Amino acid sequence: MNIFDQFRLDDRVAVVTGGAQGLGLAMGEALLSAGAHLAIVDIDGDKAAATAERLSSEYGGRARAYRVDLTDEAAVVALTERLIGQYGRIDILFNNAGIAHHAPSESDDYDDWKRVIDIDLNAVYLLSREIGRHMLAEGGGSIVNTSSMSGLIANVPQPQSAYNAAKSGVNMLTKSLAAEWGDRGVRVNAIAPGYMKTEITRAFFEQGGPMIDRWLSMTPMGRAGEPRELGGLALYLASDASSFVTGAVFSVDGGYTAI
Ligand SMILES: NC(=O)c1ccc[n+]([C@@H]2O[C@H](COP(=O)([O-])OP(=O)(O)OC[C@H]3O[C@@H](n4cnc5c(N)ncnc54)[C@H](O)[C@@H]3O)[C@@H](O)[C@H]2O)c1
Repeated sequence: MNIFDQFRLDDRVAVVTGGAQGLGLAMGEALLSAGAHLAIVDIDGDKAAATAERLSSEYGGRARAYRVDLTDEAAVVALTERLIGQYGRIDILFNNAGIAHHAPSESDDYDDWKRVIDIDLNAVYLLSREIGRHMLAEGGGSIVNTSSMSGLIANVPQPQSAYNAAKSGVNMLTKSLAAEWGDRGVRVNAIAPGYMKTEITRAFFEQGGPMIDRWLSMTPMGRAGEPRELGGLALYLASDASSFVTGAVFSVDGGYTAI
C-alpha cells in the first residue's frame, strides 16, 4: 500500500468558487496537481478566464472558468446544470468566494451588512444545495467551505461584525449539512484560515503598521500564512484520505485561536 494513493484525485471533478485568485487559486492548484479537473467559478470573469488558461497550460487542459455571481439564485441553478451537463458529475465543491468588510456596528450600512451575509454565508448554502443534491444522487462527494478564524473569535482592532457573523454561520452550516448528509456519503468540512498573505494583502503586510503589529503579536507563529500553506489540508479534505472526516472546522492560523 502506498499511503499517498489516497490523496490522488485523478478524473475527479472539483469546483472552486472565488478561484480566480488568492486562497481559492492556491487550493484549486493543489487539486489540479493531484489530478482533478477544475472548474473555477468567479464573478470576475476575465480574471477567472486568465487563471484557467494559465493553469490549463500547466496541467494538461484540466481547468475551465465560469463567470457567475453566486448571490444570484437563478445563476447558481443554471451554473450547476451547465457543470453537470459538461462534466457528468461533481465530486468536490470548495465554497471559497467571499468578501471582507470593516465597519463600526453602530453605523454600518444595512445594505453592506446584507451583502456580506449574502456572499459569505447565503451563497455557500445556495451552491451546496444545488451541487449537494447531485452528490447525494451519486452517493458521494466532498464539500469544503472556506470559513475563517473570524467564525471562531472576534478580530481586533478592526470592527467586522457582519463578516464574523457570516463566517460563524458557515461553521454551523458545515456541521448541519454534515449531520444531514453524512449517511448518504456527502462529507462537509470547513477550513478556518487566520491572516493570510494573498495578492491583495501582501503589500499591506509588507508595509506593516500598528494594526499589522497587533495581528502578528496575537499570532504565536508571529507571521501571516502563505496561500500555499492551505494546499495540503485542501487536498486532504477533498480526497479519500479524509474519508471518516465530516462536520469538522480546521484552523490554519499560526496558532491565533490557540491562545
Ligand atoms: N485572505 C485572508 O487573510 C483570509 C483569512 C481567512 C479567510 N479568508 C476567506 O478566504 C476566502 C478567499 O479569500 P481571499 O483572501 O483569497 O480573497 P480574494 O478577494 O483574493 O478572492 C475572493 C474571490 O471571490 C470572488 N468573489 C467575490 N464575490 C463573488 C461573488 N458574488 N460571486 C462569485 N465570486 C465572487 C472574487 O472575485 C475573488 O476572485 C474568502 O471566503 C475569505 O473570507 C481569507
